[in-house]
Amino acid sequence: MAKKLQKAEICVDRDIAISEVDKRIYSSFIEHLGRAVYEGIYQPGSKFADKDGLRKDTIKLIKEIGVPVVRYPGGNFVSGFHWEDSVGPVAKRPHRIDPAWNVIETNEFGLHEFMNWTRKADTQPMMAVNLGTRGIEDAKNLIEYCNVKSGSYYSDMRIKNGAKDPFGIKLWCLGNEMDGPWQMGHKTAQEYGRTAAEAGRIMKFVDPDIECVACGSSNMHMPTFASWEATVLQESYDTTDYLSLHTYYGNQDNNTPDFLASSVDMDHFISAVVSVCDYVKAVKKSNKTINLSFDEWNVWYHSNEEDKKLKKWVQHPHQLEDIYNFEDALLVGSMLITLLRHADRVKIACLAQLVNVIAPIMTSDTGAWRQTIFYPYMQACQFGRGIVLNTVVKGPAYESKHGDAPYIDSVVIDDPESGSLTIFAVNKNLEDAYEVSCDLRQYEGYKVAEHILLTNDDLKAVNTEAHPDQVAPVNYNGTTLEKGLMTSVLPAKSWNVIRLTK
Ligand code: AHR
Repeated sequence: MAKKLQKAEICVDRDIAISEVDKRIYSSFIEHLGRAVYEGIYQPGSKFADKDGLRKDTIKLIKEIGVPVVRYPGGNFVSGFHWEDSVGPVAKRPHRIDPAWNVIETNEFGLHEFMNWTRKADTQPMMAVNLGTRGIEDAKNLIEYCNVKSGSYYSDMRIKNGAKDPFGIKLWCLGNEMDGPWQMGHKTAQEYGRTAAEAGRIMKFVDPDIECVACGSSNMHMPTFASWEATVLQESYDTTDYLSLHTYYGNQDNNTPDFLASSVDMDHFISAVVSVCDYVKAVKKSNKTINLSFDEWNVWYHSNEEDKKLKKWVQHPHQLEDIYNFEDALLVGSMLITLLRHADRVKIACLAQLVNVIAPIMTSDTGAWRQTIFYPYMQACQFGRGIVLNTVVKGPAYESKHGDAPYIDSVVIDDPESGSLTIFAVNKNLEDAYEVSCDLRQYEGYKVAEHILLTNDDLKAVNTEAHPDQVAPVNYNGTTLEKGLMTSVLPAKSWNVIRLTK
């Protein structure tokens, strides 16, 4: 088929904004699962470890991204977690089974080690409490341990364990995926809503400055979706600040156009949850708006078959180690654009996860490297700061299993403070390039600073330890700006970061 240069137009008005970006939209997640913690961020004895056993090479890559917040310690793991097991002298910490992932948790790395790691990685914690096998008493004790200065049983225990100052953790997840039958301590929406309300209430008695995230649905296709959200919020509206969303996509059918259209599904999911939040707001005649925490999102499917072969009750096996290819990076770029387009309501989002487990960063005993998805995530985090403009893309769409999907997916972010304008764009057309125009006459004096391009002839190309740069961004001479009209050529199947500065 002859390759054509297709046309599209991006329309923005600098006075028509969606919202300022909350930088926590670029957060991530470390679960006690597989080699995320052990061998990922913590490996005493490794030539990459510092004196605390923390891997310096992964910290360096995490700082390269600039991850603002890291959710911890789960995930499914948290629903059976006894946090007390993970503090105090390491030699006395019990080894426990983790029935969520059928492994043994040694507790060698625990709460204090995580807090020490967050400081070194220049990030902030988002801590989850166990509302599965435990409940509000445990949530109260944990926040006392973390956030009360001194003079009480658990705060003094923290001090005895070496942390004189409180951890001051501000962001708390009230359990994890409690709607899922796979979850330890799975609950009905009514049961969970009551528990979340009381956990949040007692936690805010202890520290009124915290923010609480209640569990929404594990994905939009759960049988209880929407009624779960409505019931949970009916019960916990006053103490909840954010409602969580989770979703993972895969290309099991090897249908790339359908796979790349998954961001349309994500978009519908966000809009639907916003509607439910606002429905409950109206029912309650409340002035308070519940915002969203999309605290698990990614591509996850490559490792599913391999993981079925795992033996039970071993320590930190290779688990959920998806090796991401180029098309995965395109979808991750598109999912980031989707989150940004909902920046008025999505205030927190966590790419799940960060190291080794469905992650942008991989490690071995001999090094650490960037997976394909590292790049759109890092670039969005670095350049996607400022005010999201209402971005309308005029151009063709294709039919997909998720509905009509525009070939060009884009969002424009204006940062008046630094005098920069950033355009993220994915071209999902696998054959044709697009010439995209954008009227930027309102941005007088701006110049094209760079156009960074991620593309590859092979949709299935991957980065490995031996070949870490098979898929890597390049500087591209694809954008011009003349008399206020920007014209960009977006190659077929590409992720683009176009930056203009004053
Ligand atoms: O991120 C992997 C798992 O996916 C998490 O533990 C769980 O919350 C979700 O189902």
